[in-house]
Amino acid sequence: MFISISKILNGYEGKVSIRGWLHNKRSLGGMLFLIVRDGTGFVQCVLKRDVISENIIREVDKLNIESVLEIHGVSRADKRAPGGYEILVENIKILHRAEDGFPIAKKYHGPSFLLDNRHLWIRSRRMFMILKVRAKIIEAARDWFRDNEFIEFHAPTFTSTACEGGATLFSVNYFGKTVYLTQSWQLYAEAGIASLGKIYTIAPSFRAEKSRTRRHLTEYWHLEAEVPFCDFECLLKIEEQLIAYILHKVAEDLHDTLKLLGRNPEDLLRIKPPFPRITYDKAIEILKEDGVQINWGDDLTWITEKKLALKFATPFFVTHFPRRTKAFYHKTDPIRPEVTLSADLLAPEGYGEIIGSGQRIDDVNELVQRINENNLNPTDYYWYIDLRRWGAIPHSGFGLGIERTVMWVCKLKHIRDSIAFPRFINRVYP
Ligand code: 4AD
Repeated sequence: MFISISKILNGYEGKVSIRGWLHNKRSLGGMLFLIVRDGTGFVQCVLKRDVISENIIREVDKLNIESVLEIHGVSRADKRAPGGYEILVENIKILHRAEDGFPIAKKYHGPSFLLDNRHLWIRSRRMFMILKVRAKIIEAARDWFRDNEFIEFHAPTFTSTACEGGATLFSVNYFGKTVYLTQSWQLYAEAGIASLGKIYTIAPSFRAEKSRTRRHLTEYWHLEAEVPFCDFECLLKIEEQLIAYILHKVAEDLHDTLKLLGRNPEDLLRIKPPFPRITYDKAIEILKEDGVQINWGDDLTWITEKKLALKFATPFFVTHFPRRTKAFYHKTDPIRPEVTLSADLLAPEGYGEIIGSGQRIDDVNELVQRINENNLNPTDYYWYIDLRRWGAIPHSGFGLGIERTVMWVCKLKHIRDSIAFPRFINRVYP
C-alpha cells in the first residue's frame, strides 16, 4: 500500500511505500539523501550502506533529478530532516530514468525563461506552494457558498453581447458570425437567480487587455455570485464574510506554507468584518492630497489604486463610483443619480482591486435608458431586459479575481505566478 508524503509529514511513523519524482539529491558521509516529491509534499529519503547494497546506492546516485522512484522503507521523526520526518530506505525501484539536461538548474533564471519552461517550473517548491494556496482559496469559497445556501450555476463562454464594455472583448469566428469570449457570468446569473435563488460560479473570464501590467491576465478565473432580494448594504456584508472566511481558512490550514511564501498568517487572521469603506469622492480627495493628477469622473487605475491600497492594512471598499466609470447594468444611487451603487474591494499593502460589485438595475425603463446611454443596442440585450419585465427584484452581485487574490495572499510581485499557465498579450504558450 502506498502512502502519501503528506501523511508521513503529518506524523506517520512505520513501514511505508511511496512513489514520486526525484527532486534533489546529495551524498554525505557515505549516505545518499534524496528529496522525493509526490504532489502532496517533499520528503527526505536516506540510503545507508548497511541497509542498501553499494551497487544500488551507486546507481541511484547516478540518476538525474526528475527520475521516478518507488521507495519502500521506514518513516520516522528526525529534527534534522526538512519537514521533520524522513524515510530510511530499505528497497528502491527506478520507474523512470530522466534524461540529462533538465532545463531548470539551481541558479537564477529570468521570468521569460521560466515562462517558456512553465510545464517544468510548476514542479518547483515555490509554485507547488502557491498552487496549493490557490486551491485552498477556491475550496474555502465553495465551503462558504455551500454553508450559506448558494448553488453553483454555469453560463456560456461564447456570448453575443458585452458585459464589461467593448474595449476588452475577444472576438471569435463562430461559423461565420462574430461572437465573444465571456468577460463575466453576471448577465446570465441575473437570469439564474429567478430559478435557483442565491448562486455562484468559479470559471474563466476573458479580457483582451492590451496593457502589460503586473495585475492583468487575458484569461483569468472569476469567482462570481449573484443574490436576489439583496441591496447594496446586504451585498457588502456578503463580500466581507466570504473574504474573511477564505483568509482564515487559508491561514489555519496552510499556516506553514504561507510563512515559507513570506506571508505572515497573522496578517490574514487579523482581518475581520466590517471592512473600512471610503466613497469614490473621498478616494479622489485622498489622491489629490497626495499630489496625484486626477479629476472627479476619472476611473481608478492600478497605479492610483496602489497608492490608496498602501494606506490600508485590511481590505477596504471604495463605493459609489460615477456612472460613466461603471458598466451599464449598475443601479444609480437614488439620492445622487450621478453615482452608482457600486463597490470595489481593494486588497491592502498596495495590491488594489480584487472584487468589482454592485446593485443591479431592476427597473425596465432605467435599464433601457442606460443601455442606450452606453451606445449599446437594446435588441442585443432583449433577454436581459426581459428579466425586468417578469419578476423584477432588487438584486446584487460581485466578481472576484482569483489570481489577484492569490497574488495578495501569497505576497506575489506579479500576477503570472498566481496561475499555472498564465496568459498575457504576448504569451499563449506553453
Ligand atoms: O470589476 P470587474 O470587471 O467586474 C465584473 O466583471 C462584474 N461583472 C462581476 C460581477 O459583478 N459579477 O471584474 C471583477 C474582478 C476584478 O475585481 C478583478 O479582481 C478581476 O475580476 N479581473 C481581472 N483579473 C485578472 N486579469 C484581468 N485582466 C482582470 N480583469 C478583472
